[in-house]
Amino acid sequence: MTCSKLRLICFSPTRTTKRVLKAIAEGVDAKELTVSDVTRNDGVPDDFDCSKDDLVIIGAPVYSGRLPSVVLDRLATLKGNGVPVVLVVVYGNRAYEDALLELTDLAEGAGFKTVAGAAFIGEHSFSTSATPLSVGRPDFADIDKAKSFGAELASKFSSNGFASDSKLKVPGNKPYKTKSASASVSPISLDNCELCGSCERVCPTGAIAVGAHVVTDGDKCILCCACIKVCTAGFRKMEIPKILKVTQFLADTCKDRKEPEIHY
Ligand SMILES: Cc1cc2nc3c(=O)[nH]c(=O)nc-3n(C[C@H](O)[C@H](O)[C@H](O)COP(=O)(O)O)c2cc1C
Repeated sequence: MTCSKLRLICFSPTRTTKRVLKAIAEGVDAKELTVSDVTRNDGVPDDFDCSKDDLVIIGAPVYSGRLPSVVLDRLATLKGNGVPVVLVVVYGNRAYEDALLELTDLAEGAGFKTVAGAAFIGEHSFSTSATPLSVGRPDFADIDKAKSFGAELASKFSSNGFASDSKLKVPGNKPYKTKSASASVSPISLDNCELCGSCERVCPTGAIAVGAHVVTDGDKCILCCACIKVCTAGFRKMEIPKILKVTQFLADTCKDRKEPEIHY
């Protein structure tokens, strides 16, 4: 039996998670591919029932060693109905800590059969030219690994390799790492911003309103940096001292390249 219907479900403000998932899908090479991009709330399907899918792959970025809280909201209505699922987290070359375990638990709770997990590396959302962090990842080698992983999944699927009852084990601890309280801060737009509205359109939480000025609601901002990356003119900046300090620290201490990990 080959995998004919593959569904990707991703939350991916700066698109690295989505790129990894698409490369895995290329390797699976299913006849039919559905992509549910839940980065913005309007991407969450009305009917989030996966019973008609052969295989599902869920991907999310790692924020402070956990899943971003908004991912839990976006996936709250997801129904697995025993469909095999592959869980993928993408992190910025520091650590993924409890995020993959949290995603695996979420999928089990939604009724999926968890069959594989993976952690890939993406360019860190906070990366800048002055403080580069895992720049350009996933790169060619990462994409190659993602495609091979997809091909391996397809071959396991067709040889009934997901039939066993053994439970997927992935790294991580319980209780999960404690989340620090959100600080009601956000990137800012410079005075010469041309008010094109791209930042508002990409913001996953609706934190930005562009009118005569750009107004950002710090309580809604998750610091994902989608607004900074989309503003190629450089009018949107992360000028939060605490984040700049963390970014410098990461640039100094997380230089060694980490490699993707796969767990069955
Ligand atoms: C608020 C925040 C917290 C993050 N925390 C971590 C972390 O704990 N470890 C890590 O290696 N990368 C961390 N990152 C980096 C992201 O996991 C990484 O850039 C990922 O590729 C982003 O995925 P996306 O492109 O799909 O949005 C963090 C990024 C943000 C915005």
